[in-house]
Amino acid sequence: MSLCCYLEYIGVTVVIVAIVTIANIFSTKKRDLKGKHVLITGGSSGIGLSVAHDVARRGASVTLVARNVANLQKAQEEVEGTISSISGGGKVQFFSADLSSNAEVAYRVVKDAEASLGPVFMLVNCAGFARAQKFEDLSPQLVKSMMDVNFLGSFFITQEVVRSMKQQEEGVIVFTSSQGGLVGLYGFTAYSAAKGALIRLAESLHMEVKPYNITVTVCCPPDTDTPGFEEENKTKPIETTLISEAAGLFKPEDVARKLVDDALVGKFFTTSGLEGYMLTTLCTGMGPVTDALSFFSQVFLGGLFRSVSAFYLWSFGRIVETEHQKRMASKKVE
Ligand SMILES: NC(=O)c1ccc[n+]([C@@H]2O[C@H](COP(=O)([O-])OP(=O)(O)OC[C@H]3O[C@@H](n4cnc5c(N)ncnc54)[C@H](OP(=O)(O)O)[C@@H]3O)[C@@H](O)[C@H]2O)c1
Repeated sequence: MSLCCYLEYIGVTVVIVAIVTIANIFSTKKRDLKGKHVLITGGSSGIGLSVAHDVARRGASVTLVARNVANLQKAQEEVEGTISSISGGGKVQFFSADLSSNAEVAYRVVKDAEASLGPVFMLVNCAGFARAQKFEDLSPQLVKSMMDVNFLGSFFITQEVVRSMKQQEEGVIVFTSSQGGLVGLYGFTAYSAAKGALIRLAESLHMEVKPYNITVTVCCPPDTDTPGFEEENKTKPIETTLISEAAGLFKPEDVARKLVDDALVGKFFTTSGLEGYMLTTLCTGMGPVTDALSFFSQVFLGGLFRSVSAFYLWSFGRIVETEHQKRMASKKVE
């Protein structure tokens, strides 16, 4: 064997040993949901409702939290239908609460939910909404309500759940951010800020709760075909629509399945599609290392993805410039 081949052999061996070592250090055994209690905020619609069906199929009991009682009742019946199709399924209950109102409301929901279905093993924060508008057109009420639901609504309910999970010394927490929480986009000055804040919250909490065998996952969905997305599209500036279309439209069931699979093995980021993979790899910064594959992608693909991102940013810039020129031209005609 020549010296060159020998060095190559050593190099490959070192990389394999490093991957296996890191995999062992950071991997979390896939946890089972059978007989466990999963609390889902925003569980009456869209991604949250799909998560409810998914965890119910895996044998969990489910608490749904949202505001509209009629929608909650309908969602409860649907999830009960899913449970009846498997053997040994759990129960479904719901609580109507406005999670953007105050901390006490959120704390009460957790206490009431645990009184009937036992300690929460998994919390999925899905309640939230997006409105895209030009910065100067965003009303103070809209900015505040986006921050209140998306950020504070997740913050307070998670606080109460963490108190309980620490006693159990186990748990899974999921925050639903967005690809718009990883990167600032036209029209999303308030929404991106609220969803970005969730990522910093998740990173800090991850460090605090790790010794208690509690994992924290951030879901960054792409555009997903839900009632919420339909509503969001009604007022979206054309620039935001054209830019966000780049990643395609996903089904809530697929986003939900990936969310649950990744959260149960303790992955920090969960997302869907190639753009999501690229963004979470690129934007990881000093985020926690939770699995070997993500870590090696971040180390070896970071530079390549940064180059690809420059192309995306250039094409987004072109969209903004073109629409600006069109507006200027139509103003001149008027
Ligand atoms: N769909 C997408 O393209 C997309 C992309 C990225 C991120 N996301 C994020 O994913 C999450 C779910 O989105 P989705 O599209 O599935 O939305 P959705 O279909 O509109 O569902 C939102 C859920 O949140 C509940 N909710 C809203 N405000 C609430 C409040 N103040 N208190 C309690 N519950 C509240 C809603 O019920 P009530 O109205 O009855 O309260 C509903 O159950 C959101 O956080 C969203 O920002 C979505």
